[in-house]
Amino acid sequence: MARTTLTRTVLAAVAATSLFALGACSSDAGNEPAAGGEPAAGADDGVITLGFSQVGAESGWRAANTKSIQDTLTAENGFDLKFSDAQQKQENQIQAIRSYITQGVDVIAFSPVVETGWDAVLQEAKAAGIPVILTDRAVDAEDETLYESFIGSDFVKEGETAGQWVAENFDGEGLKVVELQGTTGSAPAIDRKEGFESAIEGSDVEIIDSQTGNFTRAEGKTVMEGFLNKHDDIDLVFAHNDDMGLGAIEAIEAAGLVPGKDIQIVTIDAVKDGMQALADGKINYIVECNPLLGPDLAEIAKAVIAGEEVEKRIVVKDEAFDQAAAKEALPTREY
Ligand code: AHR
Repeated sequence: MARTTLTRTVLAAVAATSLFALGACSSDAGNEPAAGGEPAAGADDGVITLGFSQVGAESGWRAANTKSIQDTLTAENGFDLKFSDAQQKQENQIQAIRSYITQGVDVIAFSPVVETGWDAVLQEAKAAGIPVILTDRAVDAEDETLYESFIGSDFVKEGETAGQWVAENFDGEGLKVVELQGTTGSAPAIDRKEGFESAIEGSDVEIIDSQTGNFTRAEGKTVMEGFLNKHDDIDLVFAHNDDMGLGAIEAIEAAGLVPGKDIQIVTIDAVKDGMQALADGKINYIVECNPLLGPDLAEIAKAVIAGEEVEKRIVVKDEAFDQAAAKEALPTREY
């Protein structure tokens, strides 16, 4: 099966910002909340101070995402980046955001660990006149004006694409699936589960067990060991990311079984280690989640500071790979 394109990057409304001159950052607007047509506060010196709160360092995907942000939001590109790692804890992210508010940064950006519980801190940022941009993961906010834009993949679509591949290849065989879920309460875990389940609905593919592996390789391995002890009829693992799938491979091999053959594996991310395992025949199918969000974040931050209207939702382009497509893609893979 050839690779397929899921979605296209949508940046039409901010196309003009590629010509953005740093001089345009200068603003005497004071502490006005950023809204279309109104310059946000800050960046008087032409440098945008951006406070970024990252989820953590839980996966290969996260490492690639952090690198993309740090490589793009550089001094040469007009940014003073303040970066913090929340170690997968919401309270750390809230603390970091509050600290960015106290420091009076020009823009705050963050990838929320979980979907809920952000209203209070987002209200604080708004009251301070600091625009907020979400990257990678969504929040379930009462009021959508609490953030300027959300840049990231369509996680429901990713889960659907994985489920469609499973249903297309195995419907009619009574396939038994175990699911390794991402971090409980996170947008990708909620949405990928929903998408996968909707795609297998009406087929005889059955999810016989489902637990969180917190998006890490170690927890993916531990949870898979538990599944193997409990069930002797597992045909396929659906892991919400490559790292948990790679942990599952270790557990399957330790149990004397052959990953990719005795037990099929479908994952999401398509980072280098996952793609290598796919090319090696240990994983059967991967849906990509593109981590290279730095350039879009830089562009949107500049547009917001310039008072331009930005797209509320920017969907990032993803693909999907079978084993042949992974072999072809690996030599030039960026992440
Ligand atoms: O939010 C994106 C997800 O978070 C990635 O799929 C996963 O690897 C990461 O930890």
